[in-house]
Amino acid sequence: MSEQRPLVLVSNRGPVTYQEDGSVKRGTGGLVTALTGLASHRDAIWIASAMTEQDVEVAREHGGKPFEVEAPEGGSFRVKFIESDGEAYDRFYNIIANPMLWFIQHYLWDQSNAPDIRRHEVDAFDLGYQAVNRDLATAVIDEIGGQEEPVVMVHDYHFYTLPGMVREARPDVFLHHFVHIPWTQPDAWRVLPSRIREEIYNGLLANDIIGFHTKSYQRNFLQCCRDLMDLEVSFDDGVVFCGDRPVWVRSYPLPIDYDATQNVGRRPRVREFEEKVLARRREHSILRVDRADLSKNVLRGFTAFDIFLEQHPEFAEKITFTAQLMPSRTDVPEYAEYLEKIEALVAVVNHRHGTPDWMPIDLKLRDDLDEAVASYKHYDVMMVNAMFDGMNLVAKEGPLVNERHGVSILSENTGAHEELGEFAISVNPFDVQELADAIHAALVMKPEERERRAKGLKEIVTSRDPGDWIDEQIADIRAKNSGARTPTS
Ligand code: F6P
Repeated sequence: MSEQRPLVLVSNRGPVTYQEDGSVKRGTGGLVTALTGLASHRDAIWIASAMTEQDVEVAREHGGKPFEVEAPEGGSFRVKFIESDGEAYDRFYNIIANPMLWFIQHYLWDQSNAPDIRRHEVDAFDLGYQAVNRDLATAVIDEIGGQEEPVVMVHDYHFYTLPGMVREARPDVFLHHFVHIPWTQPDAWRVLPSRIREEIYNGLLANDIIGFHTKSYQRNFLQCCRDLMDLEVSFDDGVVFCGDRPVWVRSYPLPIDYDATQNVGRRPRVREFEEKVLARRREHSILRVDRADLSKNVLRGFTAFDIFLEQHPEFAEKITFTAQLMPSRTDVPEYAEYLEKIEALVAVVNHRHGTPDWMPIDLKLRDDLDEAVASYKHYDVMMVNAMFDGMNLVAKEGPLVNERHGVSILSENTGAHEELGEFAISVNPFDVQELADAIHAALVMKPEERERRAKGLKEIVTSRDPGDWIDEQIADIRAKNSGARTPTS
């Protein structure tokens, strides 16, 4: 692959989003965190959906052309916002991407609890998901117009059918798709009508390489291709054979940009938050930082804390559980209801155990990276108890900046667990008694053991950065481009 050629990135959420007051905000989530570091390494154009009304205005101001955006970590991107029809986008984002695909891919929706699939859902796929995929595919085809053998990197579950559309127009394109969320086992996909399922798999299999965070998602995907699509696969090589065309299926665990995260820790605004954190601190502190997403298992986390306080009254008034949760996808009814349930449960636990001058759970419903990083520095215990989670970057960011040899409680169903499990307290996210016990074990752990684990976590987290992650993928792109039939050949 030529170094001169700009990398074309495609994702739903772009590196920035514009606010009602005209300010620019960094896009949230793991995907944006992963890709923003790239700006300083390579010439890239980032094609993303215009997600807010203000994004749409900005897209129109630029006449649909790319514009320059400073990356917070240095360097800049050319960003092209694509405006889709409002109703189509609503169907794409609020019905198909979330909840349908998100729920299927986090085992939140299976044959026992999935809602009926009616015309409403089928239309949402045909007229929403496919339409928005088509809009961004058109932008990609436009962008690579003059290039020979262009390379396009597509991100996530929003764009499973886009690769097929791009491939049809440009058979010479190299398509690399990274899926940031888990890939579930074949039966989880059976709730989708077979026609929709096939369109999704066929679209995705138009890629040259499909990447996941972990080997287990890689394996699940291969199994799905074999069992649901009747395709020949090689588990040893990580290849699906689509007729004569081999599609490589790889795992590239996403690292964090540790230098950038440490730099955030030095911001004056973070220091101001730290003063507040320290002023409010009790003897012990537990922290969680998440999007308010059902997959994050927030309710079981609070239930476990409730059990812990019940079973360990000696900690009364001595501990605070700070939960910084960012409201997310609130136009999706399941998410809005979840947020209500979270607030209700916090009220119950605080009422049950609190005293006039002690509120056991400090719930902060906001998205503020500076505040989160200030809290990261001073926790004793960090809870990441997701039911299922593609990677979970909080599990990496926390131990990196923490200054107290904080202990991580980590769900065995997070992608991060494959790398960090050895130095965390592993929990089954459904077992709230185990989680309550883990809180206690973390709090009474001997200082030498805390230090050993904290150092182990930090060492792993600083061993690779997003530059390495991209390089690993580029190396595969080069190898496949130069004729290798399998990743191991
Ligand atoms: O990979 C999952 C992801 O796309 C990440 O960027 C992030 O964790 C989250 O979902 C963001 O979701 P949304 O763009 O819907 O807020």
